[in-house]
Amino acid sequence: MYSTLPLTLGVCMFIACSSACSKSCVCIEDKATCRAPDPNGLIFNENIRRVVLHDLNTSFLNKSTFSANPQWSKLENLTIWAIGSPHLCSGVFTGLSGLTYLGFHNEYMDHMENDAFYGLDNIKELNFSGNSRLAISNFLNVMNSTHLPKLNALTLTGMHSTFRVTIDANYYFFRSLAGHGIQRNITYLDMSNITFRLLDFEAFSNSSLCNSVHEIYLRNATIQNMHGFGYVNKPCLSLKVIDMSDSQLPNITHSFAQMSKIASLCTKTIFFFNAEELYMDGVGTNNNTPPLQDDYDGDFRSCPYRLRKFSLANNFIKRLNSTLKLHNDTQKTLKWIKLSGNILEFISPQFLSSSINLQYLDLSSNHLHKMQEYYEDQFEILTKNNTKLNVLKLNRNGISRIPFNMFLTNNELEELDLSHNNISSLDFHVGLLTNLKEFNLSYNAVSYIDAKARDTVQQLAAAKKPQNLTIDLSNMPYICSCDDNHMETIKWIHKNHTFIAGPREDYRCTLQGERLYIFQNALEKTNAYCRKQNIKRTLAICLPIVCVSLLIGLLIFFKIQTSRRRKRERKNLRSQIELGEFPMKFVAFLSFSSDDAELVVNTILPKLNSELQLKIGTNRVLVCSGDRHFRPGYALGEEIIRCIEDSAVIILAVSKHFCQKEWCRKEVQETYDQNKPIILLFLERVEPDEMGKVLQKVFNRYTHASWIADANDGHIEPDWSVLCDALLDLTVEQLEKNRVN
Ligand SMILES: *[C@@H]1O[C@H](CO)[C@@H](O)[C@H](O)[C@H]1NC(C)=O
Ligand SMILES: *[C@@H]1O[C@H](CO)[C@@H](O)[C@H](O)[C@H]1NC(C)=O
Ligand SMILES: *[C@@H]1O[C@H](CO)[C@@H](O)[C@H](O)[C@H]1NC(C)=O
Ligand SMILES: *[C@@H]1O[C@H](CO)[C@@H](O)[C@H](O)[C@H]1NC(C)=O
Ligand SMILES: *[C@@H]1O[C@H](CO)[C@@H](O)[C@H](O)[C@H]1NC(C)=O
Ligand SMILES: *[C@@H]1O[C@H](CO)[C@@H](O)[C@H](O)[C@H]1NC(C)=O
Ligand SMILES: *[C@@H]1O[C@H](CO)[C@@H](O)[C@H](O)[C@H]1NC(C)=O
Ligand SMILES: *[C@@H]1O[C@H](CO)[C@@H](O)[C@H](O)[C@H]1NC(C)=O
Ligand SMILES: *[C@@H]1O[C@H](CO)[C@@H](O)[C@H](O)[C@H]1NC(C)=O
Ligand SMILES: *[C@@H]1O[C@H](CO)[C@@H](O)[C@H](O)[C@H]1NC(C)=O
Ligand SMILES: *[C@@H]1O[C@H](CO)[C@@H](O)[C@H](O)[C@H]1NC(C)=O
Ligand SMILES: *[C@@H]1O[C@H](CO)[C@@H](O)[C@H](O)[C@H]1NC(C)=O
Repeated sequence: MYSTLPLTLGVCMFIACSSACSKSCVCIEDKATCRAPDPNGLIFNENIRRVVLHDLNTSFLNKSTFSANPQWSKLENLTIWAIGSPHLCSGVFTGLSGLTYLGFHNEYMDHMENDAFYGLDNIKELNFSGNSRLAISNFLNVMNSTHLPKLNALTLTGMHSTFRVTIDANYYFFRSLAGHGIQRNITYLDMSNITFRLLDFEAFSNSSLCNSVHEIYLRNATIQNMHGFGYVNKPCLSLKVIDMSDSQLPNITHSFAQMSKIASLCTKTIFFFNAEELYMDGVGTNNNTPPLQDDYDGDFRSCPYRLRKFSLANNFIKRLNSTLKLHNDTQKTLKWIKLSGNILEFISPQFLSSSINLQYLDLSSNHLHKMQEYYEDQFEILTKNNTKLNVLKLNRNGISRIPFNMFLTNNELEELDLSHNNISSLDFHVGLLTNLKEFNLSYNAVSYIDAKARDTVQQLAAAKKPQNLTIDLSNMPYICSCDDNHMETIKWIHKNHTFIAGPREDYRCTLQGERLYIFQNALEKTNAYCRKQNIKRTLAICLPIVCVSLLIGLLIFFKIQTSRRRKRERKNLRSQIELGEFPMKFVAFLSFSSDDAELVVNTILPKLNSELQLKIGTNRVLVCSGDRHFRPGYALGEEIIRCIEDSAVIILAVSKHFCQKEWCRKEVQETYDQNKPIILLFLERVEPDEMGKVLQKVFNRYTHASWIADANDGHIEPDWSVLCDALLDLTVEQLEKNRVN
């Protein structure tokens, strides 16, 4: 009404309101919130219907507090957070005749008079939670009356919990709640956070509450004993919702295990026949019970349960390997099962298959990866017969693979949650899930999505114009690389933002260890990176070719250069020798042992000399040898040194004899000391250890030639031309070295 008024009027009304509202109150629309110890004298304007009183001191409450001022009778809803006196007097609520809701919370109150509720004739809902010192027996005496005749909802949460006093929920308890001399129509009963020494189902049934109570909450309650559980022989007709979550129950697992063994299970549970919703979450956590492994087949075919929803979350259930046989009615009614937060490693398809109308199945936060790993055939058909499933939650199960046909028959799925698993590939069949609206795959191990999966999802999304499919693919370890699959995945996510759900910043990929945001810069950066990589790759392929060609070119160039230079130098050398300008007497000194004289003097020496003469084009003797050039009468050592000095290169004709001769060794030493180039010409095979130390060094350092005896006088290897070229090159080098020195 207020909001439909013209603006100016609204402002006026607001002013009027503030002026009509006590200082200690804030009035907004029809609600006043006040902070005052004394409610006497509080005034509100007339449209106030709901009042919350904070810090009220119960010492100020008396019979006339609310009755003296008629404004209170217009209230519908009053909440009091009281402090002060631990006492609630008779008739203090008189005058609140219009009230339908009363909330009264005083953690200090330990006593109330039996007539405290006098006059609350229209109360539908009484919230007495947080009165943790109030003795329940006191409260029951108050309720054992004709007050609160219209009460529907009663909340007693935490009553008498301060002293951990145990309460007997016996016949008097329930009878008092139902009223004395009247029949209250209590439909909602919340007795959470209370410690019961006894909870008597039979008493509840006999108290007539089974004709009215629709919902009963016993959350976080401690129930030390249950009486009548198992032998109440008639259904609690009105009871539809039972919530015992997080309560400590007396050895419940034991009783259940016992029960499932007993054939007459139905008669033990008649009380619950009409129940539609049963929540027993976390009842195993308080009990230190061993993990529940229900392997007994439950045959409930003769039990006409009307159960629609049941929840057994957080209960240490490890295995459900049983065939659940349900009554024809139950098969139809059971639509909602929650088993999340257990330690389920295995749940038999037969456990679920008779719930043919199952629409909601929550198996999240379990250990079903074990079933997937070890019983994949069973896992694949887990929900095969639950063709009516709308919602399936398999998130947080460590599952690494979804069997291909797992969802083949679940065509009516609207929500599929596979998030927080370890799935790395989307290679399972979702193409038939044409009713899917929410598909959550976030927090898995997918690094890319292949073309087939992309197509399937795209088709599903495209076919869903009116109701819209959203798919959450966030928080995955996507890889940004130049690989086509990786690239296409990133592009696809980026482009298909219309059906991609989840926060944009949770779509990231890793490019070479760097985290990129797919909806920001990933594509550009990856493209840039790949361009660079392409260039590098091209280079990597081309470079060797270029290098090799260059190298070959260079080699050829240098070779040509060198050979030209050599030719030039050799020509130079030749002309020098011809002109008598060759600064040395000989090109080579050929040193040999007298034992090899015949071969060397008759065959090798003439041949070597003539070949060299031919190369240079001169008649001069170019090889110095002992037999011809040592001057008679001079000391041999002196002659050797002179000859070596006069020659550019030294050729040692090595044989076994040569190595044994003292002077041969001398020649070798001298040559070595003079740092002259040496060519070893082996006349026969000589083992390294037969050579002297110096010769061995020479042998190891320089290449050598060999004389090979054959049918026609023998030949040299490599041939004369090569040997002579080498000799001349070495000579040129030696001359150059001399020049530099
Ligand atoms: C009365 O107020 C309480 C507490 O604010 C609220 O929970 C309840 O729904 C209200 N009831 C009505 C009928 O407005
Ligand atoms: C409540 O009021 C009484 C009487 O005025 C007073 O003695 C008492 O201290 C008050 N309690 C609190 C908590 O203010
Ligand atoms: C309940 O109230 C009735 C009527 O006032 C009374 O006769 C009966 O004794 C009360 N029950 C208990 C246990 O106080
Ligand atoms: C009890 O209350 C419920 C809900 O307020 C109502 O539907 C039902 O008709 C009432 N029953 C009786 C017997 O008054
Ligand atoms: C039980 O008590 C705790 C602490 O006082 C409170 O937070 C919780 O809401 C209560 N539970 C219910 C179901 O009222
Ligand atoms: C459970 O109830 C007790 C009182 O009985 C309370 O102290 C505790 O906070 C409650 N716990 C929860 C989680 O509600
Ligand atoms: C539950 O019952 C079994 C069998 O009677 C017993 O061995 C076990 O100790 C009981 N557990 C608790 C927590 O009382
Ligand atoms: C389930 O029960 C069947 C028959 O009792 C048995 O053969 C099978 O090994 C059980 N499976 C698991 C996972 O315990
Ligand atoms: C359940 O229905 C089937 C046929 O649909 C019937 O043969 C069977 O007797 C029924 N069972 C019960 C317990 O009603
Ligand atoms: C599913 O239903 C078919 C036909 O009723 C039945 O043969 C099959 O055993 C059921 N599957 C499972 C896993 O119970
Ligand atoms: C589907 O998406 C469009 C555009 O994103 C939106 O306008 C429409 O309300 C959505 N429909 C449903 C049923 O969510
Ligand atoms: C999805 O992305 C692809 C490219 O990967 C594009 O061709 C297609 O049109 C996009 N679809 C939608 C619905 O945006």
